[in-house]
Amino acid sequence: MSKRQILVLNKIASVGTKRFPVENYEVGSEVAKPAAILVRSAKMHDMEIPLSVQAIGRAGAGTNNIPIADMSKRGVVVFNTPGANANAVKELVLAGILMAARNIGPAMKFVGGLEGDDAALSVVVEDGKKHFVGIEVPGRTLGIVGLGAVGGMVADTALKLGMKVLGYDPEITVDAAWRLSSDVKRVMSVGELIKHSDFITLHVPLIDATRHLINAERVDMMKHGAVLINFAREGVIDEQAVIDGLDSKKLRAYVCDFPTARMKSHPNVIALPHLGASTQEAEDNCAVMVVDQVREYLDNGNISNSVNFPAVYMPRESAYRLAVANANVPNMLGQISTAMADVGLNIHNMVNKSRGEMAYTLLDVDSAISEAAVAKVRAIAGVLNVRVLPQKQE
Ligand code: MLT
Repeated sequence: MSKRQILVLNKIASVGTKRFPVENYEVGSEVAKPAAILVRSAKMHDMEIPLSVQAIGRAGAGTNNIPIADMSKRGVVVFNTPGANANAVKELVLAGILMAARNIGPAMKFVGGLEGDDAALSVVVEDGKKHFVGIEVPGRTLGIVGLGAVGGMVADTALKLGMKVLGYDPEITVDAAWRLSSDVKRVMSVGELIKHSDFITLHVPLIDATRHLINAERVDMMKHGAVLINFAREGVIDEQAVIDGLDSKKLRAYVCDFPTARMKSHPNVIALPHLGASTQEAEDNCAVMVVDQVREYLDNGNISNSVNFPAVYMPRESAYRLAVANANVPNMLGQISTAMADVGLNIHNMVNKSRGEMAYTLLDVDSAISEAAVAKVRAIAGVLNVRVLPQKQE
């Protein structure tokens, strides 16, 4: 069997990419017929994604740079790495809270602009410091919108700093809810959270429902002098509303990872160049996790941490396995089983799971899968992608 190719669109840590065994895989930025793509933040919406692609692995949490709906229609499974960079983001949120509380951005700018000898500086410094009097965080309230891997870690750290923590997440998973400290007070709306928070931090994906989550109405609801922290995505805030909030002093500061032309030089904006996940540890964690997930999918068809297909795991008991991505419509299993029987293949084991409009089926059969068998399954209406997986070595 020829080597399977992996196209890498951004720098992905080698501790991850070298987990593709060289005897079976070729990993590079120039490969012509990739079976999978690894990506970090490269925008893929306008990219011609080769028809050979079976999987896309995002080394990170956010997947708004990937055309997921189009990939679902092709039966391409998109993976991300939830939690792998959460500690890195949490540490930067913490830095943002402290920088905003102590006016560190404007204070550094003030010092950078001073002129004169040491004696002169010392006079100006002592006189100028009154403009940068800050606040301390114990007893202040942090509101966290989104209590996934990052939000949960931010909550823990804030509690340890003596802050009160409010949390809002209508989509919280059972696992995340188990991990969350009982000291996090649950609120039932973004509005309720905003009204009572001194610091507000956003940890939601950018989807239609979260676009401009922070708008003029919500800025209006904030406490006077609140701090807004956004390490999620630029689009979750309405830029004009936040600038107006800063100009009217309703907002003490806006800390973000997404500088824009208008925001970057505002005196009360602390803007970083999308550094949330940029630590050696996070880059290594994401690379290892994404490679393991993509490789398991290409080698065995098992799916974990996909954003568009269900989690599916079936241990391999037979050498011959077929993986079918299909639309979640009635009688799909019946039709696939009939197709197998028609070509004389005996099904040894089978699993089928669905998620929304998508479904996925794995079949272990007792003998080699012919082109005719694949063609029969492909011909079923609603089947999106069919793969014969590499033969398992006994
Ligand atoms: C994420 O969504 O996890 C981050 O944007 C990751 C990154 O910086 O690559």
